[in-house]
Amino acid sequence: MLTTSDFLAMKRGGKKISMLTSYDAAFARMAEAAQIDMLLVGDSAANVLLGMNRTAEISMEIMQVLTAAVKRGTSNTYIVCDMPFGSDGDPKNAVRNAKLLINAGANAVKIEGTPLESMRAIKEIGIDIVGHLGLLPQTAIDFKQRGKSQEDAEKILGDAITIDELKPCAIVLEHIPAELGEKITKAANAPTIGIGAGNCTDGQVLVMHDILKMHPFKTPPFVQTFENFWERGVSAFAEYKKWVEEK
Ligand code: KIV
Repeated sequence: MLTTSDFLAMKRGGKKISMLTSYDAAFARMAEAAQIDMLLVGDSAANVLLGMNRTAEISMEIMQVLTAAVKRGTSNTYIVCDMPFGSDGDPKNAVRNAKLLINAGANAVKIEGTPLESMRAIKEIGIDIVGHLGLLPQTAIDFKQRGKSQEDAEKILGDAITIDELKPCAIVLEHIPAELGEKITKAANAPTIGIGAGNCTDGQVLVMHDILKMHPFKTPPFVQTFENFWERGVSAFAEYKKWVEEK
């Protein structure tokens, strides 16, 4: 399995890191067969898997169940799990919840924003962390690009440098201008993983349901699709229905 030092080496060697969200054993197995470098049990499961309105609605209990499923579907892929909304507010709570996710099968926990004391406390007990800056879906009231003004860009860059000092295994940068993505990538030792952050980051993460187009809904502007599971799935189900009725 790739480890934190491999991800650092990939950054230094200019080899891009592929990260993909994963929420169950079947698709995790498929992602591992495709040699995806890192799987993210994202709290985006709230939206794409569970039909909730906001990522903030998902619980620690559900994140543990999903992480355990992804773990069961893989044998040697690095698994990052999101700390769900409200699980990392104070250091004691954060450490307890991070341990639960690691016990469920995660190799690292991803934390949105800058709860620095919690991040430090988690690192201190030897658990790898992944930062997440730019658009922060857990607390966002709109989904517009972040870091457009100089002030906002400087704040995100400053936060990235502060998080980088904690030696995270990666920093996710969501929906920020490409120039800011590049600046942070050059300033940070940790690999940056972009989602709508231009193509100069050290890697890329996208939501599996988006790249496979598993829903009929409009996807964010930075999403690249590689399949149309919605159309194929509806057509396969319709064929199945016909088969049942006719045979
Ligand atoms: O939950 C998630 O899928 C994420 C990605 C958007 C980075 O945090």
